[in-house]
Amino acid sequence: MAEVIIVKNQDEAGALYAKSVADLIERKPFAVLGLATGSTPLVAYEHLALEVRDRGLDVSHVRGFALDEYAGLPVEHPESYRSVITRTVVEPLGLDPKHVHVPNGALETIATAGADYDRAIEEAGGIDVQILGVGTDGHIGFNEPGSSLASGTRIKTLTQQTRVDNARFFDGDMNQVPTHCITQGIGTIMKARHLVLLAFGENKADAVAASVEGGVSAMCPASALQLHPHATFIVDEAAASKL
Ligand code: GLP
Repeated sequence: MAEVIIVKNQDEAGALYAKSVADLIERKPFAVLGLATGSTPLVAYEHLALEVRDRGLDVSHVRGFALDEYAGLPVEHPESYRSVITRTVVEPLGLDPKHVHVPNGALETIATAGADYDRAIEEAGGIDVQILGVGTDGHIGFNEPGSSLASGTRIKTLTQQTRVDNARFFDGDMNQVPTHCITQGIGTIMKARHLVLLAFGENKADAVAASVEGGVSAMCPASALQLHPHATFIVDEAAASKL
């Protein structure tokens, strides 16, 4: 079973993540961070920015790879994951934007962009620590239920549920949410040396219970973490309430 840490609140979760990543950067200035979007990881990035500042860490060599991107959404769009990662990670941490990669969702090149992205991760030496949120249906990155557990980075169709969940970032209008995305595959994610999945609130309780205690199944992509040699779930009491 994966390691499960139940914390009192989001701040405690963010502080745990930040301490372990700051220790990593201290040991390994060329650390490779796996980044995620969504509201869940924000508290972790805020705490990491404070650790970086307080410890005076040199992050100029740190590399980052985001999990996913919408397909066909211009990168300049404020809700493109490139924009979100720039705003929430690159700028507050002071990372070098050249060293931070987001899958390329441009439609013209999307057929080959996935394999290129996986190659770039390998060439960087692989991801040291991958932060993950989880969708209410158990998706990680944008690997919706039914995604192959061995998948690499590729184009995917977003489910209705995910488009409804993400409409809040698009003026509450689901029709503005793109229909497709490019996402690291579950196989790609599983290659990271350490996986840290954060989940907060009661609406994640079913997904957390299925991921931690359910059978490993493509119908719950986050359940793949049970097969990983170093996976940590950091959840608040509400998200842990169905364990
Ligand atoms: C999106 C992202 C996922 C994220 C999920 C949950 O679908 N692609 O990486 O885990 O949303 O988001 P939130 O953390 O806002 O609940």
